[in-house]
Amino acid sequence: MASTPFIIVAIDGGAASGKSSSARTLSERFHLLHVDTGSFYRAITAELLRRGVAATDLAGVKSALAGIRLGTRVEGRSARMEIGGRVAGDEIRSREVNDNVSHFAAIPEVRTALLAYQRGQAVVARERGFRGLVMEGRDIGSVIFPDADFRFFLHADPEERARRRAQEGQQDAIAERDRLDSSRKTAPLACPVGAVSIDTTHLSLPAVVERMATAIAARLPDS
Ligand code: DC
Repeated sequence: MASTPFIIVAIDGGAASGKSSSARTLSERFHLLHVDTGSFYRAITAELLRRGVAATDLAGVKSALAGIRLGTRVEGRSARMEIGGRVAGDEIRSREVNDNVSHFAAIPEVRTALLAYQRGQAVVARERGFRGLVMEGRDIGSVIFPDADFRFFLHADPEERARRRAQEGQQDAIAERDRLDSSRKTAPLACPVGAVSIDTTHLSLPAVVERMATAIAARLPDS
């Protein structure tokens, strides 16, 4: 008897490129666990700031990371990071976190601390009966799951992305964050070799999702 395939979909791209909306829609359509790794970096950033640790204090970052216990809570179709048994709230979208997250994310020790945790989301997805997972971030198709069944890279003009963020009522210096995320030494934001690159500037969300869904549906019928 053929077993149901378990698929991994990687979506990378800059801030406000359309990753989260597409990932959420695909997770619903194909019953995939939705994993927003940006929210993981944000939760760690909020926790380190709460502990008074600055991104310039490498020794402080290392010792704080050693004392942090990570877990996962599945809410609906989304994986939420638990730190010490607590899921972070709205503070992960605060101005302070927006301004600091790229600096913490550029620290190799922070990325290493999250590597196994992110790969472990596939285990969570299997245990919870999902048909796979859709993970969004900056290095998913390049570092976390280079062998993912589907790898997409979304991008859009800076003006359009700033407009999208403003429409969400968010103040976020996305151009500066992208500059930092693209220029860091460890796992920089870049289109992974072999990934499907989609320019979302002039595409509606349904059109973006349709492109991805058509490829996925060939392997996994709609749930
Ligand atoms: O997707 P987001 O804008 O919420 O991500 C917040 C920050 O986290 C982003 O500026 C860079 C970092 N990040 C990362 O370095 N690698 C990932 N896989 C996801 C996010």
